[in-house]
Amino acid sequence: SDPDLVARAAAAKAALGDKVFILGHHYQRDEVIQFADVTGDSFKLARDAAARPEAEYIVFCGVHFMAESADILTTERQQVVLPDLAAGCSMADMATAEQVAECWDQLVDAGVADTVVPVAYMNSSADIKAFTGRHGGTICTSSNAKRALEWAFEQGQKVLFLPDQHLGRNTAVRDMGLSLDDCVVYNPHKPNGGLTAEQLRAAKMILWRGHCSVHGRFSLDSVNEVRERVPGVTVLVHPECKHEVVEAADMVGSTEYIIKALDAAEPGSKWAIGTELNLVRRLAKAHPDKEIVFLDRTVCFCSTMNRIDLPHLVWALESLVDGRVPNVITVDPETEKFAKVALDQMLALP
Ligand code: 13P
Ligand code: SF4
Repeated sequence: SDPDLVARAAAAKAALGDKVFILGHHYQRDEVIQFADVTGDSFKLARDAAARPEAEYIVFCGVHFMAESADILTTERQQVVLPDLAAGCSMADMATAEQVAECWDQLVDAGVADTVVPVAYMNSSADIKAFTGRHGGTICTSSNAKRALEWAFEQGQKVLFLPDQHLGRNTAVRDMGLSLDDCVVYNPHKPNGGLTAEQLRAAKMILWRGHCSVHGRFSLDSVNEVRERVPGVTVLVHPECKHEVVEAADMVGSTEYIIKALDAAEPGSKWAIGTELNLVRRLAKAHPDKEIVFLDRTVCFCSTMNRIDLPHLVWALESLVDGRVPNVITVDPETEKFAKVALDQMLALP
């Protein structure tokens, strides 16, 4: 990265001292990650944001839904800054408050709403988290989805899983012993979600038809090809991958899990990783004694994560030094109240 920008970021960070706390998601670029006070997966970053009441400014190097969650979990006095407002998440955009309210009406009409517990993936807007809190549900991340589903099935008989169908299906089938037939997919672009009342009554998992545009591109062919290309390889993927990819893989887990698995791996072992490219490249660099390849060379970076680059970080930090707080992410108090109920429920999961 540009040495001038590196020096400016370092100087601005030093000038701000304890006033600023920089969080970096594992999918961020190296040029940004080097300035993070902590790095983590979505779950760890949510907890770390909540554990820093002394920092006036939380600079979130990640995507919009993560910054919203940090705003909800931090004190009123603290301000959360997202260095580029265009850093969204296409998956989170796949479920809007109106669509989810319509879905709920349909569950009411089918006579099943009383038995349904919503579980919303962290990768969702604050509105969806608030809906989840209002209806007695919980948030989950890729590292606690199993515990969230166990909890939800203690509260009710069915789960409405938003918005990632793959994480929902993978967790239900791999971790909860449910069958693919127990799952139905609600398509917000079809009348009645494309489901009959009977289907809703019979289902245990109602999966929202959302997906990650990056992880959705890994295929069964990607796994078969890498096994041929790298004999003896261990395939490790993120649970946002399609069910058939996860079934064909050797190991599955969140970004933090992937990092720990490689830390514990034997020298000389071979790994194909199915997650975002910035993280895979960083892992390959950090473990020169292991062979680490990207699961599918045709898959790219998460373009919205990549929007946070060093120029944007420098701009955000220098603005704070100048007394301006740029790109503040705020959630309105009513939404925040109910979204916090659902996030606190997640943090309280056993
Ligand atoms: P993690 O919770 O595993 O960090 O994943 C977040 C994410 O956006 C994956 O695409
Ligand atoms: Fe969203 Fe996928 Fe990017 Fe994660 S990798 S932020 S789920 S688009």
